Amino acid sequence: MNNHYIPRLLAVANQKGGVGKTTTAINLSTALCAVGKRVLLIDLDPQGNATTGLGIKRNSIERSIYDVLFDDAEVTDVAVKTKVRKLSVVPSSIHLAGAEIELVTAHYREYRLKNAIRKPLPYDYVIVDCPPSLNLLTLNAFVAVESLIVPLQCEFYALEGLSHLTKTVRRVRKTLNPDLDIQGIVLTMVDRRNKLTGQVADDVRKFFGDKVYLTQIPRNVRLSEAPSYGLPAIIYDMKSPGAQAYIQLAKEVIGRERELLKQQNVA
Ligand SMILES: Nc1ncnc2c1ncn2[C@@H]1O[C@H](COP(=O)(O)OP(=O)(O)O)[C@@H](O)[C@H]1O
Ligand SMILES: [Mg+2]
Repeated sequence: MNNHYIPRLLAVANQKGGVGKTTTAINLSTALCAVGKRVLLIDLDPQGNATTGLGIKRNSIERSIYDVLFDDAEVTDVAVKTKVRKLSVVPSSIHLAGAEIELVTAHYREYRLKNAIRKPLPYDYVIVDCPPSLNLLTLNAFVAVESLIVPLQCEFYALEGLSHLTKTVRRVRKTLNPDLDIQGIVLTMVDRRNKLTGQVADDVRKFFGDKVYLTQIPRNVRLSEAPSYGLPAIIYDMKSPGAQAYIQLAKEVIGRERELLKQQNVA
């Protein structure tokens, strides 16, 4: 058991779909592995894009996060290795689509994921890819993890959606998980030629200050092509601007993690 510690627990969340959560979860996980971290990516979205995006065929999946949440399966038993060294994934399954309703009547329904991952595991990081809603599955992630990474697409209603999310975080912190914090907001699909994008980006930075990572993820076709090859963009085309941006983002995430640990040690 001597290589088992309680891992750092992060979730990538935003109740809006199509903002870059899964792309961020996959590439951030891969970048962390590239600097030697052992990472477990948990696919909590019934759509399973993180699973397939890492080259895991849905019909080859025997057990999934569903079995962890409902049958007390261990994440270490359900996790499958990916083509990325040191990166394993707990796959999603279509059964997860019904999980939301099953959870409503389940005991300790908000704590299922926490019980599965807040314990010594053979990983340095567990990263949860959340579904595009603030449902009970997402709530399970918010209760389980310590930090959220929030991808934000710079569009007109972005700030409104964000305030809904921050309210939820505050509520969870008061009740189910006092440790929860937004580690950072990452601007995604940034198109420098688009004026609105720049405007929204400025507003978000004004409002959230240094909560926003300095790194911005550009709109980049390599990021959208990579999943169809079952590869993270960082491996599919490491030199592409999108991949490079995610490598930069990972450095910032690690930096903020270190700061947090320092503060915890001082306290
Ligand atoms: N920076 C980007 N540039 C271009 N396409 C992107 C970028 N980020 C994500 N995409 C594409 O946009 C779609 C939605 O991204 P995804 O990460 O699946 O969002 P979410 O998980 O929030 O629904 C996917 O097809 C993805 O490949
Ligand atoms: Mg997704």
